[in-house]
Amino acid sequence: MRKPLIAGNWKMHKTVSETLAYLRRFRELVAGVEDREIMIAPPFTALYMAGQELAGSHIRLGAQNAHWAESGAFTGEISPLMLKECGVTYVILGHSERRHIFGETDEMIRQRLSGVLSAGLKPILCVGETLEEREAGRTMEVLETQVRSALSGFSAAELQGLVIAYEPVWAIGTGRTATPETAQEAHAYIRGLLGDLFGKDRAAEVRILYGGSVKPENIASLMAQPDVDGALVGGASLDPETFARIVKYG
Ligand code: 13P
Repeated sequence: MRKPLIAGNWKMHKTVSETLAYLRRFRELVAGVEDREIMIAPPFTALYMAGQELAGSHIRLGAQNAHWAESGAFTGEISPLMLKECGVTYVILGHSERRHIFGETDEMIRQRLSGVLSAGLKPILCVGETLEEREAGRTMEVLETQVRSALSGFSAAELQGLVIAYEPVWAIGTGRTATPETAQEAHAYIRGLLGDLFGKDRAAEVRILYGGSVKPENIASLMAQPDVDGALVGGASLDPETFARIVKYG
């Protein structure tokens, strides 16, 4: 059984004091929720304090990216080891904003994934097509390239803890959520690719999250799909009450 994972990606939002106020409220709101895993990914600057605040709680801490090396001359980057010491469990990799605004390539994402795995952290690999690619009928081809280039070369054992997030670029921050059927079709396709790479049994264990305009109003219908194992929530994770409603869907 795949335990649902409801994850919040705060992107470039919230200072340290805002993070602290949020977490104190949010912890109360989700106290006692045990049948699903919860993760929050604040900006790097708030991670250490968030790790202290969440120590001993059931809320997991995530980072929004990581470099592949443990240390080195990489101005502006953060290493997996640094994240681990802050109490981070999950690392979001290959988010479409990293790909499209900052020019991250499939090869860079593969390297970052390798560094994250070496540090014993769990990657959340984001994949997804643009509107142009969808309209050109290239969605599955894009997903295949992104999944294969990030994951080939790793063994199933090395990828223990891997999570995939399907985030269609046209649904991110637009209010235009994928229909549950559209999400299911992409998730089933991704699970099929994982089956080709690592075998059916391993593919059946990997959680595939949906991301793109998830809200309290649409989470339940998305989660009702057989291959939707959770959500990666942007805008609607910024308010503790709203995110708690999403966490407590159903
Ligand atoms: P929104 O929920 O704001 O559409 O963002 C989704 C996302 O990019 C999560 O990583």
